[in-house]
Parts: sequence; C-alpha cells; structure tokens
Amino acid sequence: MSEQTIALVTGANKGIGYEIAAGLGALGWSVGVGARDDQRRKAAVEKLRAAGVDAFGVPLDVTDDASVTAAARLIEEQAGHLDVLVNNAAITGGMPQEPTRVDPATIRTVVETNVIGVIRVTNAMMPLLRRSASPRVVNMSSSVGSLAQQSGTAGEQTTGPVAAAYAPSKTFLNAVTLQYARELSGTNILINAGCPGFVATDLNGFRGVRTPEQGAAIAIKLATLPDDGPTGMFFEDAGVVPW
Ligand SMILES: NC(=O)c1ccc[n+]([C@@H]2O[C@H](COP(=O)([O-])OP(=O)(O)OC[C@H]3O[C@@H](n4cnc5c(N)ncnc54)[C@H](OP(=O)(O)O)[C@@H]3O)[C@@H](O)[C@H]2O)c1
Repeated sequence: MSEQTIALVTGANKGIGYEIAAGLGALGWSVGVGARDDQRRKAAVEKLRAAGVDAFGVPLDVTDDASVTAAARLIEEQAGHLDVLVNNAAITGGMPQEPTRVDPATIRTVVETNVIGVIRVTNAMMPLLRRSASPRVVNMSSSVGSLAQQSGTAGEQTTGPVAAAYAPSKTFLNAVTLQYARELSGTNILINAGCPGFVATDLNGFRGVRTPEQGAAIAIKLATLPDDGPTGMFFEDAGVVPW
C-alpha cells in the first residue's frame, strides 16, 4: 500500500467540491477529482495542478453503476486504496418544488443523485477504504435536511425554500449516514454529514453569502478527523447540527 494519502471528491469540478479538492490537496494529499463531464473535469484538474495540487481526474457520474465501478477500478489501479471519500455531488432538481405541485419525477431524480448516488459510490469505494489506516467518509448534506431546524423544534427555524425533493433528500442522506455509522461502528471508518452553510454556487444561482472555500472547511475538518473522532454525526462550522 502506498503511504500517500488518497482522497476522492465527487462533483469536484466546481463550487464547494472544487474547493474541498483544493483544500485536501494543500495538505499534500493526492486528490481524485470526480466529475461527470470530461471538459469540466480536465479544466479542474489542470487548475488544481497549476495551484500545486497532486490532482488526478476520475470520470464519475454518481447515478451510473458502470461509471462508479470504473471509478473504483481507476483508483484501485492508481493508488491501491482510498483514505477519504467526500460525497459532495448533488442537485436541487430545480425550484419551485412545493409538495402540492411537485413532479414525482423530480423527487426520483434528486434522490437518485443525492442519496442513492452516495450509497452507490460509498459501497463501490468500501473495499478501497477498508485498506486505509484511517478511512473517513464525508457526506455533504445541508441544514435544510434537518427536521429539527425545518420545524423550528431546535429553536431557530431554517429559512430555505419549501422543497419536496432537495430538502428531504438531505434528510434521507442524514438518515443513511447514521445507518452506515451504526454498521461500521467498531471499525476504523468514521462517517459524518456536513453542512457548508449558504454558499454562493451554481446550486443556488450564486445567491449564497459564503465563499466556496468557506463552505469547504467543514468537509476538510471531517476528512481529517483523528482516529478517536466522532462518527454518525452532523456538523457545520459552528458545531453539531440537530437532526
Ligand atoms: N451551495 C450551498 O449553499 C449549499 C448549502 C448546503 C449544502 N450544499 C451541498 O454542498 C454540495 C456542493 O454543492 P455546490 O453548492 O458546490 O453545488 P454546485 O456548484 O452545483 O456543484 C455540484 C457538483 O455536483 C456535480 N454533480 C451533480 N450531479 C452529478 C452526478 N450525477 N454525477 C457526478 N457529479 C454530479 C456537479 O457536476 P456538473 O458540473 O457536471 O453539473 C458539480 O460538480 C452539495 O452536496 C450541496 O447539496 C450546498
């Protein structure tokens, strides 16, 4: 096994994912830039390399079994193991998304990417993660998936659009993260969900108030947890996010 720390970030060609790749690369890690579009992936890898990051491209559509299997094979051949997986790729499915009017197809598409995509990628990478001395999985979630925050039972009510696909997809992702943590308790694999805050990216038409670099910070923190760090939890920069 190579001693180089290897990370894979899904949806790393732009936005928060790109900055997660840049941040992990700045630690001296080798970073797989998971991206579905050839041109966008190549451009991101070139930009990261120009910034001194040991980046390599990983063709990856999280909704496509064959693509995900090929991505795992590529990392196996390239590195032989994987230390950190950041499941960052996601879509909103477009707004508005009021429950009374939403197209069920939108919900299917969003869940396929934001939840099943995470499961597909995580499970494909699991044999490679199990070869790492300190495997970490980071699922990029959102506080809009917090039922406590959405309902106001945790105090402050999250302001975000009423959304029948995107917000529940993150609730689903949080629940799945917890189930992985339960199954993997007693192993050295730590898996947590992180919320980047409201970040100016394509996802929200650049209406966010934080920079992608600021949004990447929580993922980098969860990717570099010590061996006795938490698992099965949901964090933002300020601390634990209530489920
Ligand atoms: N921005 C925010 O305020 C905010 C708040 C809370 C949580 N988040 C979460 O943070 C993460 C990053 O969001 P962002 O704001 O950086 O969004 P973004 O700029 O829209 O980037 C999303 C990334 O996901 C990729 N992606 C989408 N579907 C994919 C698929 N099927 N296979 C592979 N890649 C796919 C996109 O690739 P293409 O370029 O090919 O489309 C892009 O690289 C997401 O999980 C999001 O839910 C964001």
